[in-house]
Amino acid sequence: MRLLVLGATGPTGRHLVAQALRHGDTVTVLVRRPAALGPVGDRVRVVEGDATSPGDVERAMSGQDAVISALGRGRSLRAHGLFTRSADALQEAARRTGVTRLVWMSSFGVGDTFASAHVLLKAAYGTVMRDVFADKKASEATIRAGGMDWTLVYPTTLTNGPARGAYRVVEDRTRMRLAARISRADVAAFLHAAAHEPRWIHRDAVITG
Ligand SMILES: NC(=O)c1ccc[n+]([C@@H]2O[C@H](COP(=O)([O-])OP(=O)(O)OC[C@H]3O[C@@H](n4cnc5c(N)ncnc54)[C@H](OP(=O)(O)O)[C@@H]3O)[C@@H](O)[C@H]2O)c1
Repeated sequence: MRLLVLGATGPTGRHLVAQALRHGDTVTVLVRRPAALGPVGDRVRVVEGDATSPGDVERAMSGQDAVISALGRGRSLRAHGLFTRSADALQEAARRTGVTRLVWMSSFGVGDTFASAHVLLKAAYGTVMRDVFADKKASEATIRAGGMDWTLVYPTTLTNGPARGAYRVVEDRTRMRLAARISRADVAAFLHAAAHEPRWIHRDAVITG
């Protein structure tokens, strides 16, 4: 596939680019700071720009089969509209380019998944994480209501541990554990696989290790 990766300089995005290249996909990345990518070789097309700019997103998205977003705010507790603005930019670019497939990395605890979180996590999600989670929730409402073929992915707490080569899609969310974790490498594997599998279109996936 021809894949556009958003958030390619982040820790999950890096795994995602590597995963896609291992599988023989053609990868485009839209990054604010190309130098931060390090050496990626000539199999990656680098577009410099901002994921909240409709024009930049359109430029990177043109000619792709699918977009995978691993955008995030790093350690910041403020969203500054990143998710809502990039969701809007994606919708607009999708209309202009005809590229409709989107796999979007959210966080367990956002939107409807909040109800099944452990009480201690709910306390964090409702206070320190509140601003980021509210922006993510609003962005996902936009995505769900828009015309794209979306998959919304809700990983539990992320680790930088090695890929276990396995992830669990949680069907019974009433049993979510406080300690549920998944490595960014395994999340990247799921994001990549979902982009290739039409059965994930218009579905949510809560994933854990
Ligand atoms: N921490 C957890 O336990 C946890 C659990 C579940 C889900 N999540 C979510 O998983 C996602 C990925 O997290 P992560 O820790 O792997 O990555 P991260 O450190 O949040 O990396 C974010 C990436 O997004 C890029 N980005 C931010 N704003 C951008 C913009 N305006 N235009 C273009 N690129 C932009 C960053 O680029 P720059 O290099 O230019 O800054 C970076 O590549 C986040 O949404 C996070 O909330 C986290």
